[in-house]
Amino acid sequence: MKKNSENNTNSKKSSSPGSKIENLQARKSEAKLGGGAERQEAQQKKGKKLARERLSLLFDNGKFTEIDPFVKHNSSDFGLDKTRKDGDSVICGYGSVHGQQVFAFSQDFTVLGGSLSKVASNKICKVFDLAIKTGCPIVGINDSGGARIQEGVDSLSGYGELFKRNTMASGVIPQITVVVGPSAGGAVYSPALTDFIFMVEGVGQMYITGPEVVKAVTGEDVSHDDLGGANAHSTKSGVAHFVSQSEADCFEDVRNLLNMLPSNNVDIKSSNETSGGSDQSMLDNFIPDTPNQSYDVKEVIETIIDSGSFVEVQESYAQNIVVGFSKFGGETVGIVANQPDHMAGVLDINASSKAARFVRFCDSFNIPIVSLVDVPGFMPGTSQEYGGIIRHGAKLLYAYVEATVPKITIIMRKAYGGAYIVMGSKELRCDVNVAWPSAEIAVMGPEGAVNIIGRKEISSAEDPEKKKQELIDNYRDKFATPFVAAEKGYLDDVIEPSQSRQHILNSLNMLRNKVDHNLPKKHGNIPL
Ligand code: HXC
Repeated sequence: MKKNSENNTNSKKSSSPGSKIENLQARKSEAKLGGGAERQEAQQKKGKKLARERLSLLFDNGKFTEIDPFVKHNSSDFGLDKTRKDGDSVICGYGSVHGQQVFAFSQDFTVLGGSLSKVASNKICKVFDLAIKTGCPIVGINDSGGARIQEGVDSLSGYGELFKRNTMASGVIPQITVVVGPSAGGAVYSPALTDFIFMVEGVGQMYITGPEVVKAVTGEDVSHDDLGGANAHSTKSGVAHFVSQSEADCFEDVRNLLNMLPSNNVDIKSSNETSGGSDQSMLDNFIPDTPNQSYDVKEVIETIIDSGSFVEVQESYAQNIVVGFSKFGGETVGIVANQPDHMAGVLDINASSKAARFVRFCDSFNIPIVSLVDVPGFMPGTSQEYGGIIRHGAKLLYAYVEATVPKITIIMRKAYGGAYIVMGSKELRCDVNVAWPSAEIAVMGPEGAVNIIGRKEISSAEDPEKKKQELIDNYRDKFATPFVAAEKGYLDDVIEPSQSRQHILNSLNMLRNKVDHNLPKKHGNIPL
């Protein structure tokens, strides 16, 4: 039942208005078959949704307005002339998500493997331009074999046009990618340029070169999924931000995220929601007495935010830092929190890059940032040094300094060394800095400090171990307290932990009309 829509249209040549409408309806129905019923069945047998079904899952009430349903390619090399289909390999349009206008494109694998032709790119670019002009988010649903091989450079040009728009629109409108099929070769760079990538387990795959090429070049024998599946990209590479078990769950997650975000970089998402928080009293006894005992910072987050509003980003990657969106009094806020439960919350390369990118997203879209600090320092070791912890750690510093949105920091326990500075210190232009009574602020932890500054005293002591412990206790007494920093004004206050939510709400309110600027420049040179 692979009928060409041209034949269909030509078969009903009548000039009566009624039959013209019938012709239109017939042609639109035909277009909905994409590459044909057989290919659609094959797609469904693989456990994958059809391109239009995906758009229906994305938009409110499953409804969207399609743009360019009749655009078809005009290529004829390598037998392409027999493959002209209304709409070609992508379906584009707009609709609403939780009442907010959103543009989207959905690649149709049933038409030439969803490969990107020049006209498919033109279609995507048209909705992209509309999204930019109207200040609305764009969602790209990827299921494609990449550049349409038969079209050669035309197809490459199509990708170039897309990359250009991804870059130009970065920081102007939120861009979301959903990977629900292959995304191979240079084609992965459009998703990579967007703000958030969603992948469906067992369905989405992203890789620069497929397993065959990997085997030929490196000898490694890997499956498509091991190479570039959702698990690989959410736990190892950090390319994916969200993973879902099914397409239905995935689109629900996309809708949920869009509901947290403003439409563009000048839209202030005001809210009348009055969502309450949980009982705060548990926080007063939350920090363990022993300094090296861990705890789950997500319990703190869940307690202080509007109940149940946390949307964690990159949950399975660099788990030593937790980032995500939540609501405070109905307003969206970005949270950056060290996670003592994972590698003691140390800052390493991956954690620094993850948090830096998140802070920059929040700043681009005027989302205030709340930082929750309990960090023993930067991760030592050759693998970190050779991997460029200096460069990557600097990204986080840069991101915090550059951000002009309201910035609120709470030091819960450790804030040692450079990590004290980087995690939203006053010096990095943060607006409100407070600590819990359990805070310890120092150049380094007591043990490390005493090993350096007390070395001679320890070695010349009658009982070196006793002396060392005495010096450690001394150091801890002096620095394992927030009051030294508060006395000097580096902290604005020391608060009871159970007052944190109220303090954040007050601070957000106080900072509502904050205006701050960076020095005039073309752009800075963040250490990439
Ligand atoms: C044209 C393509 C195509 C492509 C797939 N098809 N990819 N047609 N251009 N890039 C067609 C197939 O010929 C086939 O048509 C149909 O789509 C379905 O493909 P299958 O191979 O049968 O499907 P499947 O087994 O599921 O495998 C999917 C796949 C594989 C893994 C994506 O098709 C594949 O490896 N494709 C090529 C991927 C690739 O290397 N693309 C170029 C990347 S470079 P028929 O009619 O036979 O059913 C690139 C450069 C971008 O994209 C540069 C940007 C800077």
